[in-house]
Amino acid sequence: MKKLILLTAMAAMALVLSNCSGSKKLAATPKLNFESNLKAVVMSECAPCHIPAKGGNKKPYDNYANVKTDIDEIIRRIEMNPGERGFMPFRKTTKLSDSTIALFKQWRADGVLEN
Ligand code: HEC
Repeated sequence: MKKLILLTAMAAMALVLSNCSGSKKLAATPKLNFESNLKAVVMSECAPCHIPAKGGNKKPYDNYANVKTDIDEIIRRIEMNPGERGFMPFRKTTKLSDSTIALFKQWRADGVLEN
């Protein structure tokens, strides 16, 4: 009987340990990059104004170099509230979703990678 308890305890321990290494793997998710993670969002949320191909005449943001240079200003503006001076996307009445704003911030935290 004692042996059985010991075995059960060891099995439980093994489970806990394997879960731990599982969460370590999660922490090592690949870094975000402009081409795969950000560009599509910019192309839809900041169009047409910042997308020359769609007729925009504002600073192009379908372009990695510009987004990289302006990322602090971009985050500052998308975190504003609608109606505030400087709010982006311009004239929209709702902010980008929290998860979209988080994506821009995570990309910055990951080191503004191109691809
Ligand atoms: C409906 C058109 C429109 C949309 C959509 C729009 N913008 Fe803008 N954006 C403007 C205009 C107009 C300006 C210039 C006026 C100003 O600076 O507030 C501007 C300026 C900016 C600037 C300052 C650029 C500079 O020259 O320094 C940033 C940063 C910016 N937008 C970010 C964004 C981002 C990010 C999005 C998408 C999430 C977005 N905008 C969507 C119209 C738009």
